[in-house]
Amino acid sequence: MDPLTADLLERINSYVEERFAPLDPVLQRNLDASHAAGLPAINVSAAQGKLLYLLAKISGARRVLEVGTLGGFSTTWLARALPPGGLVVTLEVDPAHADVARRNLDGAADGVTIDVRVGDAAESLHQMIAQSEAPFDLVFIDADKIRYVVYLDLALRLSRRGTVILADNVIRHGLVMDEITDDESARGARAYNALIAAHPRLESIVLPILRDTVDGLAISIVR
Ligand code: SAH
Ligand code: DHB
Ligand code: MG
Repeated sequence: MDPLTADLLERINSYVEERFAPLDPVLQRNLDASHAAGLPAINVSAAQGKLLYLLAKISGARRVLEVGTLGGFSTTWLARALPPGGLVVTLEVDPAHADVARRNLDGAADGVTIDVRVGDAAESLHQMIAQSEAPFDLVFIDADKIRYVVYLDLALRLSRRGTVILADNVIRHGLVMDEITDDESARGARAYNALIAAHPRLESIVLPILRDTVDGLAISIVR
């Protein structure tokens, strides 16, 4: 992207974040601690965190499932949208990420239980299905993009009519539009978009998300 466009996107995002998604000390400490622990800075933006929070509130979610925890930044936004007694189950394959997240999430959302589960997300989801876990009200998919379609299939088995299913990084600065690309994450996101666009159990849209590049959030509701 040319630098002027990148700068404009970044300034638009900052304009929105300054007004609508300022970081309180807990969220700022989350980012600082994640950075200090060497985690990659691939968390959602503050503006997108606010969007996740609003979608969870608008849908009246009480039980949230997240696939891909990292340091728990998006987890915090989602957990704060839940009423007292709410639950977030968040799945993370990397034990070091999960450790950082647990510390970051301690006391991050009053009255809400946050359960960080370590392990491959597909395995954890299969386990939850086998244990007849109650359906979730909202699912946020944000782990390895190459398996988004697998996560969707499993998430649908933990859903009910009206469950909201979200997925991050489904535009990848337009790479998802390329029929042929070396970027396997873009291929995974492209397959996800094709699946939700035609899925008989879903109504969906992809919303572009501006940062310094353009990415996207997939939003679906289960029929
Ligand atoms: N949702 C976070 C960012 C998640 S980054 C936020 O916005 O704050 C993606 C995370 O998915 C990484 O921590 C990575 O370790 C994890 N991940 C990758 N493959 C996974 C898998 N197979 N199962 C569970 N988590 C996985
Ligand atoms: C990557 C992963 C993400 O979830 C994200 O939002 C941005 C980048 C990555 O793996 O590079
Ligand atoms: Mg992401």
